[in-house]
Amino acid sequence: MKPDPSTLSTYTKVAVKATKLDLTIDWTNSTLFGSVQFRLSEIRSRQLTLDTSWLNIRKVKFDGNAVKFDLLSRTKALGSPLQIDLPECTQGTLNIEFSTTDRCTALQWLKPGQTTGKKAPYLFSQCQPIHARSLFPCFDTPCVKSVFDIVIRSKYPTVATGIPVSSEDGIYTFRQDIAISSYLIAIASGDITSLPIGPRSRVWAEPQDVKSCQYEFENDTEKFIQSAEKIVFPYEWKSYDILVLPPSFPFGGMENPNITFATPTLISGDRQLVDVIAHELAHSWSGNLVTNSSWEHFWLNEGWTVYLERRILGALHGEKYRDFESIIGWQELEESIKSMGDSAARFSPLVVDLSGGVDPDDAFSTVPYEKGSTFLRYLETLLGRESWDKFIPFYFQKFKQQSLDTDMFVETLYEFFRDKKHVLDGVDWKLWLEAPGLPPKPDFDESIAKHCYDLSDQWATAAETGDFSFAAKSNVEDWTALQLVVFFDALALQLSTQKHLSEAVMTLGKVYEIASTRNCEVKARWFKLAVTAGIREECYRLADWIGTVGRMKFVRPGYRQLAKYDRKLAVDTFRKHESFYHTICRAMVMKDLNIE
Ligand code: BES
Ligand code: ZN
Repeated sequence: MKPDPSTLSTYTKVAVKATKLDLTIDWTNSTLFGSVQFRLSEIRSRQLTLDTSWLNIRKVKFDGNAVKFDLLSRTKALGSPLQIDLPECTQGTLNIEFSTTDRCTALQWLKPGQTTGKKAPYLFSQCQPIHARSLFPCFDTPCVKSVFDIVIRSKYPTVATGIPVSSEDGIYTFRQDIAISSYLIAIASGDITSLPIGPRSRVWAEPQDVKSCQYEFENDTEKFIQSAEKIVFPYEWKSYDILVLPPSFPFGGMENPNITFATPTLISGDRQLVDVIAHELAHSWSGNLVTNSSWEHFWLNEGWTVYLERRILGALHGEKYRDFESIIGWQELEESIKSMGDSAARFSPLVVDLSGGVDPDDAFSTVPYEKGSTFLRYLETLLGRESWDKFIPFYFQKFKQQSLDTDMFVETLYEFFRDKKHVLDGVDWKLWLEAPGLPPKPDFDESIAKHCYDLSDQWATAAETGDFSFAAKSNVEDWTALQLVVFFDALALQLSTQKHLSEAVMTLGKVYEIASTRNCEVKARWFKLAVTAGIREECYRLADWIGTVGRMKFVRPGYRQLAKYDRKLAVDTFRKHESFYHTICRAMVMKDLNIE
């Protein structure tokens, strides 16, 4: 296996048997301090290097004795390697005392005013892909897995990766019995409480919000778990909870084991954005149990997860629905490759090259998700659904609690489908795994999408002729939010320079009462259309919106659209809300807008 280019640690020279994290949240100084302890064996080098990023290192001990260490100078995205001299030995316990700094990229500290309740501060982490090293010194590669004990001292309720063991006198302890990679370590603390959403699940949120969060998820969570269990094998993590974060959480969801972190933009009141939960839950198998060995093989995490997510939804709502979701994904893939421009050659192959210190956050796109899941769907069709469905549990059993790369995946296909070698030999592996651009398009069942396309055609014609007599709320009366999304995506492709363009968009918004939607996916599409059509009022509304949500999926395109329309408005809006965003989001928007 090729080494992980995104770590500076000497992870190939040692085995990590167990890790203990003992952290105190210092709310006054917005820092975390404490220690990490690694039980090491198979030590094959006198010098050991760990990843760190913007950490203060206080003391390093090996088997209880202080040892010499050196924090080397920083390489941009990958951080500062911590070099440690070990005594002659093959195993022992390494203990490092450290504290975080105000440049920590994994943590966001919110002031009471930035929370719903306004009473208590709030802290949350986001470690994927390589921010764990700014939280604690570690072998920050998905290739290294360890069981964890986590102790957190906080004056507020606290959740973390793993099963809660006890919470007394402000000391919260968690145990993760299944070996996991560092990027899955997560903590959050603040005025949070929980309600049940299923027999093995609770939802956590601020007290004012927790009831609406419960409503949003209580119908589907357990159904998703049971459906996934039928496709792969029983859920091994025991409990599955969801934490709904404050609005600056930069992702839709993050699959932290036992406690998925989710954006509050999922709380639409209509239970229509739960596919994100199906996705994060599916990571319990793809990603958390079976893990990509480096971020170059990220598709093994995300492509498999999107594939499973749609199988879960297909099992519950029918194959047509699975294809409907896939169509949306395909549209996003087309968009994303188009918007890459010159970097498509580098970042649109399924397996990417991250050597030379490339920041994996910069390589992030829809490609591993959609090209990856399209590839798996292609294999399903090619090999036959029945035998493919037996391969799924085989693959996840074979690699559980391990990490693998794409070559190992292909080898496993050949191992399982020994009697179909000739079929596998017919796969154009180079095209699927190495070529940039779009892969071959699958045959999607378009029956649900068809109505959306038809309506889009009608609007495109109307924008030409100026005849809007067909337009009525009844056009979309019993549509789901996702149908509206497909309609909007199709229309965005069709509208450009029509004579009655802005009148068409304005009429559409009014007739379909888009302004009042609480569904963020619909909202984002509407703004895109309205800004393209140059409707000034909607540009201001978009600016207001992206000042209140920190989910990068909406914030980044939002700023790009605004900037195209009015660069000053985009930059001014960003400056005004800068401190609200998560560090990662802030950095990405600054790159997107080309500002320092
Ligand atoms: N693991 C990802 C989030 C992530 C990816 C964080 C890379 C940091 C680096 C998570 O599972 C995810 O993909 N979330 C999506 C939602 C999903 C339904 C596609 C998101 O955040 O939008
Ligand atoms: Zn994912």
